[in-house]
Amino acid sequence: MNSRLIDKLATFYDLEPEIEDFGEAVVKGLSSEHKTLPCKFFYDLRGSQLFDEICELEEYYVTRTEVNLLKENAAEISQCLGDNCHLVEFGSGSSTKVRILLDALQQAAGYTAIDISRDHLIASCAELAESYPGLAVSAVCTDYSEALEIPALGSSSGRPVAFFPGSSLGNFDAKDAIVFLGRVAAFLSQSGGGLLIGVDLKKDEAILNAAYDDAKGVTAAFNLNLLVRANAEIDAGFDLSGFRHKAFYNADIGRVEMHLVSTKKQSVTIDGKTIDFEPEERIHTENSYKYSLNQFAGICQEAGFISSKLWCDADQLFSVHYLETA
Ligand code: TRP
Repeated sequence: MNSRLIDKLATFYDLEPEIEDFGEAVVKGLSSEHKTLPCKFFYDLRGSQLFDEICELEEYYVTRTEVNLLKENAAEISQCLGDNCHLVEFGSGSSTKVRILLDALQQAAGYTAIDISRDHLIASCAELAESYPGLAVSAVCTDYSEALEIPALGSSSGRPVAFFPGSSLGNFDAKDAIVFLGRVAAFLSQSGGGLLIGVDLKKDEAILNAAYDDAKGVTAAFNLNLLVRANAEIDAGFDLSGFRHKAFYNADIGRVEMHLVSTKKQSVTIDGKTIDFEPEERIHTENSYKYSLNQFAGICQEAGFISSKLWCDADQLFSVHYLETA
């Protein structure tokens, strides 16, 4: 099935991100004093589907607001990008938002999607290639948080513009955000490209809390899917009814935190190692940092970017920036 889909792509690079180490990562994360599970494991096929559902939720203003910003300012944005741009998207998921850019551009030189979720990446890119027959669509399966190994785009394939929507930058802590942006800047500076990035803003806590703990429980299912996945892939034997989703804005640190809370005293055995949980003990699964425009400007400067253009909605919920290398 995959090879038929891969045929629709200009190129498919599999840099084989180390998802095989899932078991090791789970044991390591759950053996530390403050238990954690790495957030990159959210995105198996089911996780990717649940994430798409999150993006449609009433409470999750992020996607809707960013999409509106991209649509309403498409003409101005495509002027920044330029007609000969080659869009390189980090964490492309279902490659939905890039369609807004592709529709606004007269012609793009190419599109390269980078994602850790291999099958979802290939399927989404094949679909995109069908919608845009003249466009050279490439896919790179890798973990962009580890290193920025981007296969050469080729000198004939246009000016690279990185696309990093969804406030995924907020899932890095401040230090790692600068490291990541610095790598993007280094990649772009070889060719004078730019970066189009979506950044979620600080706001009323009630809005943030609802966005990460929706009434339908989709975000809860997304979070708990980490345990479902551990049961399926590494035979972990988590009692799914023994954990609940908890998400809240931590104002001191300026981030939304997601946790899985053990509802009782219990233990789980993985790879022969027994891990004990106290009642109300938490597994920290993800952070989503929220920036003020000033804070984000500081991070950009440290990473070697200068802000060229900024778009914000009237309620100041979300921001989209076009940055150039300093
Ligand atoms: N980066 C987005 C955010 O932090 C999307 C996201 C990542 C997300 N993990 C999530 C959304 C978990 C909801 C729940 O908002």
